[in-house]
Amino acid sequence: MQTQMPGSLPDYQIDPYRLAEDDLKDMFDDIRLELITNTTQEELQPISTYYLDGQGKAIRPILTILMARAINYHKGRNVLSHSQRQIAMISEMIHSSSLLHDDVIDQSDIRRGKPSVNVVWSQKKVAMAGDYILAVACRMLSRLQNDEVTITISQIVTDLVQGEFMQLGSKETENERFAHYLTKTYRKTASLIANCSKAVAILAEVDDHMIEMAFQYGRNVGLAFQLVDDLLDFVASSEALGKPTAADLKLGLATAPVLFACERYPELNAMIMRRFQEHGDVKRAFELVHKSNGLEQTRFLAKKHCAEANKIVQSFAKSPYQKALIIMADLVINRMK
Ligand code: FPP
Ligand code: MG
Repeated sequence: MQTQMPGSLPDYQIDPYRLAEDDLKDMFDDIRLELITNTTQEELQPISTYYLDGQGKAIRPILTILMARAINYHKGRNVLSHSQRQIAMISEMIHSSSLLHDDVIDQSDIRRGKPSVNVVWSQKKVAMAGDYILAVACRMLSRLQNDEVTITISQIVTDLVQGEFMQLGSKETENERFAHYLTKTYRKTASLIANCSKAVAILAEVDDHMIEMAFQYGRNVGLAFQLVDDLLDFVASSEALGKPTAADLKLGLATAPVLFACERYPELNAMIMRRFQEHGDVKRAFELVHKSNGLEQTRFLAKKHCAEANKIVQSFAKSPYQKALIIMADLVINRMK
């Protein structure tokens, strides 16, 4: 951010969104420009930019920008480099590409309070538009000409696909279930945040330990983010979420609240195995989760990951950006949508 010198904000005034605001300001315009100028296929433009309208939470680019700036400050610099900003853009593009694929797979109806992309255009076109966003992101990545960053960011896509595969129809045993869920959660959500944090640290040319710290912050915040997402599926209103609730159960997915609830209500085991397919399963499982302490346990685990993330960031040089990373972890826990 050009207007704010590091260290000039008192604790109570730090607002992570305001700190990232200047860097974020034209980012969605720049992403849309990349997507519009790289194709002559007119219809690809509205489909690929449908979710890149600046109305999302932009949690990935914000975390990426704050991490970049916190690490730059640690190295005595007060500018976000062009390459680091590109990583923030790429983080949102990979995310958006994955949402296009996800909405086709989940046959979603509504996202962020508007008709899902697959409702507006055919599945074939949406899947290809998702590939197109990814291709443009790859092009931007290759322009950075940094092999280590390219390998780091490529890992995200491998993880996303594997995470989605793990979710499709696995039949792991009761003992394996939680470890399977956590690996899936890392691949599906945390890897993107962790590896973008790592990439901006690599670009800041810090040592391996610091790069690892950046990765671990992102991994922990990413895990907490998805745990809270899985929790909100049971407790938030569909109006607040902008998408239907109990969606995971309806898709046959057993997330942390159900897995924890299973300890008190073993009858959930059979429902998990048949992916809540029998009439009444979704309603019964939803009730049992609320009767159990599965929701509290899920929140507790999310808090543990955020505490771990905050511990990591404490070792960074004190700066508004470092504080903002700590506040972001708290916001992830307390978010309502
Ligand atoms: C949302 O999950 C989906 C993801 C976080 C990842 C989806 C990944 C793929 C479809 C793999 C292919 C990806 C690429 C980039 C080619 P959700 O359904 O739990 O959340 P939702 O309720 O927001 O839909
Ligand atoms: Mg989905």
